[in-house]
Amino acid sequence: MDVTETFQISPANRMTGLPTQFFAGLVRKANAQTAKGRDVINLGQGNPDRPTPEHIVAALQEAAPNPLYHRYPPFSGYPFLKQAVAQRYKEDYGVELDPEKEVAILFGGKTGLIEISQCLLNPGDICLVPDPGYPDYWSGVALAGGRMEYMPLTADNAFLPDYDRVKTDIADKAKLMFINYPNNPTGATADPAFYSRTVEFAAKHGIVVASDFAYGAIGFDGKQPVSFLQTPGAKEVGVEFYTLSKTYNMAGWRVGFALGNPEIISLINLIQDHYYCSLFGGIQAAAAEALTGPQQCVTDLTSAYESRRNALFEAMNEIGWQVAKPSGSFFCWLPVPKGHTSASFSDYVLEHADVVLAPGIGFGTHGESYVRLGLLAPEERLQEAIHRIGKLNLF
Ligand SMILES: Cc1ncc(COP(=O)(O)O)c(C=O)c1O
Repeated sequence: MDVTETFQISPANRMTGLPTQFFAGLVRKANAQTAKGRDVINLGQGNPDRPTPEHIVAALQEAAPNPLYHRYPPFSGYPFLKQAVAQRYKEDYGVELDPEKEVAILFGGKTGLIEISQCLLNPGDICLVPDPGYPDYWSGVALAGGRMEYMPLTADNAFLPDYDRVKTDIADKAKLMFINYPNNPTGATADPAFYSRTVEFAAKHGIVVASDFAYGAIGFDGKQPVSFLQTPGAKEVGVEFYTLSKTYNMAGWRVGFALGNPEIISLINLIQDHYYCSLFGGIQAAAAEALTGPQQCVTDLTSAYESRRNALFEAMNEIGWQVAKPSGSFFCWLPVPKGHTSASFSDYVLEHADVVLAPGIGFGTHGESYVRLGLLAPEERLQEAIHRIGKLNLF
C-alpha cells in the first residue's frame, strides 16, 4: 500500500512555535566561505577552543571500566558529584549548599535553563528576559507557552537591567526572570549591589530568579565574578545555573548544575525523573575530579583569555575601533561602524575579510548595532582578524 500521499506528519504547535535559530544562517555562510578554500577566522561562536585538562580526562579513563557505572545511575545523579559542586561553591564563594536538597545535576546548563520555564510557567505566564540575551531562555519560555517581556541591557547602565524601567503591572504578573553575569553577549559583570537590587525586586513582585552563571570562572583584571547565591535572600527567591563547559573546557561533556532554592531544585529533579536517568557515572566521576582536583587550570584559562582580550584590544586600538574592554566571559561586544547594521557588518567582514562575527540582532533588538566576538582563537589569529578588518577602512 502506498501511503506517501495520504500520510502526513503534522508537528505539535509547540514545535512550530519555537524561535528560529538565527545563527544557523551564519554557520552556513561561514561554511560556504571555507568551502571556497578561504582562510576563515571564526570568532562568531561560543565553543571553547582548548582541550579539557588532562587530569579530568584521566579520571574518566579510570572510571569508564567500573561496572558500577555501566548500570543505571541514581535518577538525580551520584551524591559524590553533588557534594563536589557544593564544596567548590563553599571554597570559591563562601556559599553553603545542602548537596541533596539544593543541588540538581543537569545535562549541561542549557538543559536546566529550558527546564526551569517548564517547571514554573503556565501558558501565558510572563517571564522577564534580558535583551540582548542568550537565546536558550527564549526556547524554554516558548516550549512552556509563556510570554516574554524584555529587559533592555544598554551601555549607559553598564549592561545591567534597570528594574525601575519594568512596568509595575508587568513585574507583578511575571513569574520568572533570567539574569546572566558575566554576560553573554556583552562581557559585562555584576557587583553585589546589583544582586541585592535583584533580590529586592524579585521578593517585592514574587518573581523567581534564574541566575545563569555559565561564565562564573571568567573575570578579568583581578576581579573574581560574584555569584548571585552570595547575596542575602538569594536562595529564598531563586537558583543559579552553573556549568563545567567553560570553567574546565568541558562543553562536549554536558555537565551542569542548578543550585539554590530547594523547592525549585526538587521541581527540576522531578521533571528530570521523567526525561532522563542522569549522566553516565564515569562522566560524573570526572566532573567531581574537575571540581575537587587542582584548580590551577582555571586560573591559567582565565589569564589566557585575558591575554587574548588585551592583544585584541591593542589591535583594535591601532585601527581606531574604540570600545571599553569586557570585564568577564570570553565575549567582546563591539559597536558596528556608521552606516552598517549588525547583520550587514557581519556579512561584509565575512565576505571581504573572511572573519566570522555574530550579529548582535541575533541576541535581541537591543543587540542591533553591535557584533559579538569570541576570544576563542590564539592571540595571533585574533590580531590577524582585526588587521584584516582594519584594511577595509571602516573605522
Ligand atoms: C550564557 C550561557 N548560558 C548557558 C550556556 C550553556 O552552556 P552548557 O549547556 O554547555 O552548560 C551557554 C553556552 O554557550 C551560555 O553562553
